[in-house]
Amino acid sequence: MSSVDQPSTTHGMNGPDASKIRSMFSGIAGRYDLANTILSGGIHHLWRQSLVDWSGARAGQNILDCATGTGDLAIAFKSVVGQEGRVTGTDFCAEMLGPAPSKAAARGYEIEFSQADVTQLPFADASFDIASISFGIRNVAQPLKGLIELARVVRPGGCVMVLEFGQPDTPVISNAYRLYSEKILPRIGGWITGAPEAYQYLQSSSSQFPCGQAFLDLMNSTDRFVQVEARRLSFGVAWMYKGVVR
Ligand SMILES: C[S@@+](CC[C@H](N)C(=O)[O-])C[C@H]1O[C@@H](n2cnc3c(N)ncnc32)[C@H](O)[C@@H]1O
Repeated sequence: MSSVDQPSTTHGMNGPDASKIRSMFSGIAGRYDLANTILSGGIHHLWRQSLVDWSGARAGQNILDCATGTGDLAIAFKSVVGQEGRVTGTDFCAEMLGPAPSKAAARGYEIEFSQADVTQLPFADASFDIASISFGIRNVAQPLKGLIELARVVRPGGCVMVLEFGQPDTPVISNAYRLYSEKILPRIGGWITGAPEAYQYLQSSSSQFPCGQAFLDLMNSTDRFVQVEARRLSFGVAWMYKGVVR
């Protein structure tokens, strides 16, 4: 990945360049899971489980997980919707999707994984009960367009679930986390994947990305939700959002 520039970070309406993002993720795909587990101490699985629990997903439902990457959130949803339910995982980076089918199969789960851009989903309106995106929306070139697409494919009354990094707002935690994410995370992420730029980008994009009320304002600006709500995870290191579709 050293040949790939670090994508520039922006907040709000315009995200990073899509081709740089795709190329960055294709470069780290083979070591993405290992890096996640080491860098978060395994907490990322608990965050995804919290999102699934809060979504209210039930057996038999039809779920779409976008920017699914190596499929962890799709797999967590499948464990709840069961055999009678259906989970589809999509991502625009083929290399990130690479490990997903075998991870699902190892748990005995049937999940359909396919390539798709979240801003242009190949699904009919109102065809899912829930659409989700974890640690993806920050990387989408047009995040509002992504949110609108996610809402489009969900039935009225269903929900869009978003999990994303934010900024901790408790002073001691905030200082400790800043030290970790600026000085330690890019170094360890770089050692594991050979791509320090990707983990510098993770730090810089997460430190600027709108969280809490600012992200709810973005969701509301789409006019696609009758209700939006946010919950903090791990003192605001991560946030989850639920939008009930109009
Ligand atoms: C940090 S990874 C998150 C993967 C996974 N959801 C997880 O929780 O581990 C971000 C993912 O977003 C994907 N992505 C970024 N922009 C996208 C877009 N416009 N459409 C689809 N996938 C996108 C990348 O390819 C990458 O797999």
